[in-house]
Amino acid sequence: MMPSEFHQSVSEPARLLVEKGTLLYAQHQAPLDESEWRALEHLLEQVDYDHVIAGDSSESHSVHVARFVNDVKRPESLHALTDEVKRIVMSEKMLRFYSHFTGADVLCLRRCQANLLLPGDYIGLHKDQDSNPDYIATVVFHFDDVYEGGDFVTHHPELGSKHYHPAGRSVLVNNCEIPHEVTPLVQGKRRTLACFLSTEFGDSPSPRKAFKLSN
Ligand SMILES: [Fe+2]
Repeated sequence: MMPSEFHQSVSEPARLLVEKGTLLYAQHQAPLDESEWRALEHLLEQVDYDHVIAGDSSESHSVHVARFVNDVKRPESLHALTDEVKRIVMSEKMLRFYSHFTGADVLCLRRCQANLLLPGDYIGLHKDQDSNPDYIATVVFHFDDVYEGGDFVTHHPELGSKHYHPAGRSVLVNNCEIPHEVTPLVQGKRRTLACFLSTEFGDSPSPRKAFKLSN
């Protein structure tokens, strides 16, 4: 559940994230500059990806994943390049950006991973809080313009379903209570960097299953 103070925030984006469940920022609305987008894109090109066919809360997937941070127990770095990623996505200006929709000035990056979808790949219906109920917002950085399919679809309990087809260098923020999926990619490639934010810095409340790999 969202902490109760979240609902009392006067920030308009924070209120919107609670009410709408999902926010989409175009490139000019998010604080990353051109060199930071390029640096993140370059980092995504340097890492090895595992083909994941099941998530950690029993949903089905077909997605290529490179993990920088995970919190099976306490959040830990899983890659030599994690600090370079964090330097960009957890910078002071990004923390200020996140505070607008989380209502929190201090945030822990509990999980951070690059997701690559190739034609036929998809992410099955799930809720990020099924992995960890402490997650409050997932920030997804998008890198590609040319792809068909691969829609981010939210299933809000009150507002119903909504399709998003984020452009390259846009930032989608999802309230971690909201179920969502990514429809099968038809054409092109779809690269994202997903950052799971929380106000909790300690151990995860319950241990999770490992990701299931195809090999
Ligand atoms: Fe998710």
